[in-house]
Amino acid sequence: MENRVLYPGSFDPITNGHVDIIERGLKLFDSIVVAVLKNPKKRGLFSTKERVAMILEIFAHEPKISVQAFDGLLVDFAKKNQARIVIRGLRAISDFEFEFQMALMNRKLDEETETLFMMPSVGYSFLSSRMVKEVFFLGGSVHNLVPEIVEKKLEQKLSQGKFVLSP
Ligand code: PNS
Repeated sequence: MENRVLYPGSFDPITNGHVDIIERGLKLFDSIVVAVLKNPKKRGLFSTKERVAMILEIFAHEPKISVQAFDGLLVDFAKKNQARIVIRGLRAISDFEFEFQMALMNRKLDEETETLFMMPSVGYSFLSSRMVKEVFFLGGSVHNLVPEIVEKKLEQKLSQGKFVLSP
């Protein structure tokens, strides 16, 4: 049986920390479905379509990666994709409480779905999509913190006056 795993998140936008987790996952699993949450309650900087398109472009050369948008329960989406494992990155202790709650809630919802935590490279342990957006918006450099395509798309948003920082 193919060992397919799900890597869910908001990815608004994907950072090099996420890319690092995916690359580590590629060494362990047969395939990874990157699952981008469609969240109508939270207005992001990038639309779901834009987030998916960026990730697809970054991993265009990698046949083991697929990218899909999802809504509803993560465990249902995992089942639909025949993935029993969900991977999540843990950067620091501060991530732990939320991740622990989410993993146990997902287990309560479906005993069959297992969450595995992976640590990104220490160089990305401070990195988050929210900080990338804030730093970029305030004129700081995010070079080497996000893939090139993301940097380009951030610049486009700014030049089009479409850069929205949600609270
Ligand atoms: O990148 P994020 O925002 O930390 O990702 C959070 C995500 C998408 C993994 C989480 O919000 C999620 O799984 N949402 C789907 C709804 C769901 O299944 N909720 C119950 C478990 S908490």
